Amino acid sequence: MAIKTIIEPFKIKAVEPIRVTTRAEREARIREASYNVFLLHARDVLIDLLTDSGTGAMSVDQWAAVMQGDESYAGSRSFYRFEESVKRLFPFKHVIPAHQGRAAERILFAVTCKPGDIVPNNTHFDTTRANIEYRGAKAVDLPCRESHDTATPHPFKGNMDVEALENLLEHEGADKVPLVMLTVTNNSGGGQPVSMANGLAVAEVCRRHGVPLYIDACRFAENAYFIKHREREFAEMSVADIARELMSHADGCTMSAKKDGLANIGGFLATNDDDLARQEKELLILTEGYPTYGGLAGRDLEAIAVGLEEVVQEDYLQYRIVSTGYLGRHISGEGVPIVQPPGGHAIYIDAGAFLPHLHPLEYPGIALAVELYREAGIRAVEIGSVMFAQRDPETGEEQPAEKELVRLAIPRRVYTQSHIDYVVEGILEVWKRREQIGGYRIVYQAPFLRHFTARFEPLGARA
Ligand code: F0G
Repeated sequence: MAIKTIIEPFKIKAVEPIRVTTRAEREARIREASYNVFLLHARDVLIDLLTDSGTGAMSVDQWAAVMQGDESYAGSRSFYRFEESVKRLFPFKHVIPAHQGRAAERILFAVTCKPGDIVPNNTHFDTTRANIEYRGAKAVDLPCRESHDTATPHPFKGNMDVEALENLLEHEGADKVPLVMLTVTNNSGGGQPVSMANGLAVAEVCRRHGVPLYIDACRFAENAYFIKHREREFAEMSVADIARELMSHADGCTMSAKKDGLANIGGFLATNDDDLARQEKELLILTEGYPTYGGLAGRDLEAIAVGLEEVVQEDYLQYRIVSTGYLGRHISGEGVPIVQPPGGHAIYIDAGAFLPHLHPLEYPGIALAVELYREAGIRAVEIGSVMFAQRDPETGEEQPAEKELVRLAIPRRVYTQSHIDYVVEGILEVWKRREQIGGYRIVYQAPFLRHFTARFEPLGARA
């Protein structure tokens, strides 16, 4: 019988020590950080699940490629290698490097959006939304209906609501919509994949209305792996071919190479539109750099070129998706409420259901993130009312977000199964004493993107 255990498909060549801390130390550090995990020093964190962005480990081939970096200002050899590697998966005419995803977004929306425009997406990531709003346009989320219920599994909860898109285009008029975006996987929607069928349906609606479709491709390889395993007609296709197939129905994409580029920095913007590409390159020179480096060093372009080859390898993706699922299964098996099914890059705990005695504006996501750090030195991030609450325009009162989630994002190729077992145990210890966990109030907040710098105070232990 074949062996069933799925192993990390790599050996470890360089190690980075983890500094073990005591509970008393963590207690002091989190108090000094005003109960905001963004304000902790990374050296005080044991297992850092704050983000999967730029936190992955590079391979020997990537480090070797780094030494080949050509740092020429214009026409660098590393750019052409990067461009070739990108075009193998993203068959767009123009590829424009940028220092990360949000730089690509800023340039795309600066060139395409004007005040009053509307940009629909399955769910906008926060920088995407901010870049659209900064142009005076409106960012609209159109997630599929199944996404609203966190507890019920569905194979493609990241899908866009195609009917809602059709309605929006008919109601508002396609001339108000400079482009439609589709985010794969849907990060803000729980790391959930988008099906090929949904991608094709969205592309068809866009084509019929004459509106370009752009893919936010940050986690394209994880999304393609889910398509291969959940959409029967693609079972025999390679992940690379599936990724290319999805992209071939779009007019362009934005990409953060800090995710499925397996690099620590970098990104790009791609398009088939000659005129747009010209304008984008002109703008790029203003703030990012010449179009053959776009704010990156030649060595970064090399690391991305190799990373894009490695990320579509199926043993890597199998390990990646299985290890995320392992964390999800082991905590949800003990009753911890999570967004089901587990996504590609992260597990999202439903903090509202974990701490039902707390009101959303007592910030259950902050309370849970603080306890995970106290208990086990784990750093996770609140994706709830601190990040997404809205103010009532009339009364100025805070309106809670739709969900109170805590995201445990898994860096690529960084932690082993025993690290994940440690995380499971830490979460279950907190789960056991959940009824004793109290809420928080905000004592300082910035006028925008407050979650990065807010300071909190405990409301006091519950009686
Ligand atoms: N789009 C999506 C779906 C993202 O998840 C991110 C970043 C970006 C765009 C922006 O890319 O960081 O390179 O500028 N997500 C990270 C996260 C920060 O933690 O989820 P960037």
